[in-house]
Formats: sequence, structure tokens, C-alpha cells
Amino acid sequence: MTSSLSVIILAAGKGTRMQSAKPKVLQTLAGKPLLGHVLDTCQQLKVDETIVVYGFGGDQVQATIGHNYEHLPINWVAQTEQLGTGHAVKVALSQLPKQGQSLILYGDVPLVSSQTLAALQSANIEGMSMLTLTVSNPFGLGRIKRNANGAIEAIVEQKDASNAEQQITEINSGIYCVDNALLHKYLPNLSNDNAQQEYYLTDIVKMAVADGITIAAIEPEHAFEIEGVNNRQQLASLERSWQSKLVTDLQVAGVQFADPTRVDIRGSLSTGQDVFVDVNVVFEGDCTLGDNVYIEAGCVIKNSHIGNACYIKPYCVIDSSTVGAGVDIGPFAHLRPDTVLADNSKVGNFVEIKKSTIGHGSKINHLSYIGDATIGTGVNVGAGTITCNYDGVNKAQTIIEDHVFIGSNSSLVAPVKIGDTATVAAGSVITEDVGAHTLAFGRARQTIKSNYMRPTKIQK
Ligand code: UD1
Ligand code: CA
Repeated sequence: MTSSLSVIILAAGKGTRMQSAKPKVLQTLAGKPLLGHVLDTCQQLKVDETIVVYGFGGDQVQATIGHNYEHLPINWVAQTEQLGTGHAVKVALSQLPKQGQSLILYGDVPLVSSQTLAALQSANIEGMSMLTLTVSNPFGLGRIKRNANGAIEAIVEQKDASNAEQQITEINSGIYCVDNALLHKYLPNLSNDNAQQEYYLTDIVKMAVADGITIAAIEPEHAFEIEGVNNRQQLASLERSWQSKLVTDLQVAGVQFADPTRVDIRGSLSTGQDVFVDVNVVFEGDCTLGDNVYIEAGCVIKNSHIGNACYIKPYCVIDSSTVGAGVDIGPFAHLRPDTVLADNSKVGNFVEIKKSTIGHGSKINHLSYIGDATIGTGVNVGAGTITCNYDGVNKAQTIIEDHVFIGSNSSLVAPVKIGDTATVAAGSVITEDVGAHTLAFGRARQTIKSNYMRPTKIQK
């Protein structure tokens, strides 16, 4: 029998120590809100019901997250007063099915993996399983009390722990998988008779033990999976742990990083064989790199596909673009959204391209702006060429057919079309279509004044 799976995400904390106007769960790790990480993980599991318990800044959280996760229906439950983790789950009970089981997660513990959660769910045989970890410095965390047979008896919070209990190094992650029937049974009976006068969710452990339930415990694969974010230092340190994991996975897959500590991946990166990535490269969103791609220092690549054997020189920004095979880019090139570079094309330094398609083998080597253009194959665009695509109100298209040669420092005033194999003379301002196989001049003729004397300085 497969039972339904709910997730309860506690996200009501204010996050005072972040010193931010933003609710803590909207702070970003690897470019994504903390709560977004948790919700993405939920999407990888087969979750039937997602309940988010919110408090501080709930409107802001719902406006940001509710919108991004339309395909994962979220049941938002307000906890107006933060009376403890047990209270937080209790306010979710009205939305929680009577049957099935629930994963209890935290909006500020972003990196727990779907594999770990699946294992936790499988470990829940008798009604309750939990994620614990033995650590060198357990200070501040709930400790796992086990009996002589090693069975879990209770969780003691730091502030309630005796000296002996404080020596325990197995800590409570706070992440559990619990049968809904037990949550419905135990939560109404929690008391706040403890050092912090809070309703402790952890007290359900001793209630279950009293009912004769054996509580299963498993450990996460990585310690960072259960680490929470309370301040900027912890956020930065968790970011490093995450980056290190992503980079290690890519190294195992065969990517060469000049320095694995000087690259950031804010999203997903999939790679072919023999990819090289130099220092200070940032990947954002979903990126794919083909085989033998070589990326030099300081590039920012976002939501783009880079084909086999591309060579990207230093300091390029590539956004939402598709690059074919064997393309050379940069240094200092800017590919803006909807740029398509066909195989063997070349984009050189200080070239900006937007919403344009550049054909096979075509070259735009120096100091150009190409916007809203379709360029055919074998075209040479001279240095300083500008597509004048904007009249101050509307955008217009430039079409450059195959084998065209555009002389340097030309302005192509769109809408305009340059026909197959046409030539545009350097320095031209082209305002009308140019026919195939023609030569277009759009510049003043040069005049010569003979025996010209330069002005001389007036003596005072
Ligand atoms: C809790 C556990 C502790 C465990 C630790 C792991 C309890 C009583 N203790 O500690 O055993 O080692 O987590 O980090 O559960 N929250 C709400 N509403 C509330 C209170 C908390 O939504 O009323 C949320 C917070 O936003 C946070 C999470 O629950 O995301 C944990 O709260 P926090 O106060 O950090 O937990 P602790 O009590 O320190
Ligand atoms: Ca805490």
C-alpha cells in the first residue's frame, strides 16, 4: 500500500540575525531563495500535499514563491505567533490529511536532498523516523537520548539538557518523517513547560516511545544537508559547501577547473567531455556545455547552450543564447537573450549581439552592435558596424544574406535588407535595401584641397 506523502515546511521565523528587510527564507543560495531549494526538492519527491507555515513577511514570501511554484500547489498556513516548532506544526494540522505520512522540513534548511528524504521515508516503518548526525560541536542543538539498547528515547534541547546530556554528540536535525495519525494524536497534547516556554515538536519523540513505537534514525549523506541558515556567515558557508559539492560532481564527470574554489554554479550545469573552465567563471540558470569547450577567466554564462569545441575568451557575458559548435567568442563579448550563433561563427571583442541569428562561419570581430538581425552564412561584418534597430519607439529588423561583406564603421538603419553577396562600403549609412551582388556606398565622397596650410598659433 502506498500512503500519501505530505510535506510541512516550517518557515515562520523572522531571521532577525540576517539584518534584512527580506524574510529569511527569501534570502538566496546559489541564486535561488532558500525556500525555493526546499520546494524544488519536494518536486523531485512524489509529494501529494505541501504545507508552508509562514509568519513574518508572509505576503512577500507568497508573492515571490507562490508565483514561481504554480505547478506545485502550496497550502499556505499562517502562524501569527511563533510559539515553537511544535506549535508551528500544530497550526498546520487543519490542512493535514488524517492518513498518510508527512516530512517535516524547514524553509531555512535548504540543501536536504531528495535521496536523503526518500531514505527517511523508507525508514519510517513504525510511525516515525528522523535524521540525526553525530557532530564534533553539538552546542545549541537538540541531543538524541538513547537507552542501553541504543533505541531512541527522547530529544533534549540544549537549554534543557543536564551536564551529562550536553556531552551527547548525536544531534537532532529537526527533519522527520511522521505518520499523520501520530501528528494528529500528539500535537494537541504538547506543553510548553520547558526552559524556553515553547511548544517543542521534539516532544513527540517521547510520546511515540511511550506508545511503544521504535523510532528509526538515519544520517544524511552530507552534513550540509541539515545545516540551517541563521546569519550571513552561515549562509555564505553553506553556499561554499554547495558550490564545492557541485564542482566535485562535475570534476567526477570529467570537467577541468583551473581552481575549483573560484567558480560558481547558480543553477544546473551539464557538460560534455574535456571541458575546461578557468577562474572566476559564473554559471547561472540552466546551462549546457558540449565536448571540448574552453572557457577563459571571468565569464558569466546564463541559461545558455554552448556547442562542442567552442572557445570563450575572457570576460564574456552570455545570456539566454544558443551557440553552435566551433564558435570563438570574446574577449569582452556580450551575447544578450535570443542570440543564436551557428557553427564556426566568430564574435570578437567589444561586440554586443541581441535577438539575432548569426549564420555558419560568419564573423563579427570587433566593436559592433547587432540587434534584431538575421545574418546568413559566410558574412563578414566589419569593425564598428552598428544595426540601428531602434527609432526611439519601435524595433526593426536587419537582414543580411549569405556572403555579404559589410565595410567597417557602417550603420545599417533598420528595417533594411542586404542581398546575397552584396558589399557595403566602409563608413556607409545604409537606409535602403541593397540588392544581391551589388556594391553600396552610403557616405560623402572624399574631397582634396591642395596646398593646404594648417592654422598657426596666434601670438599675443
Ligand atoms: C530545533 C529543534 C532542535 C534541533 C534544531 C535543528 C525543537 C524544539 N528543537 O531547534 O532539536 O536540533 O531545530 O536546527 O524543535 N519555526 C517556526 N515557528 C516557530 C518556531 C520555529 O516556523 O514557532 C521554524 C523556524 O523558522 C525555523 C525552524 O522552525 O525554520 C526551527 O526553529 P528554530 O528556532 O531554529 O529551532 P530550534 O528550537 O533552535
Ligand atoms: Ca535553530
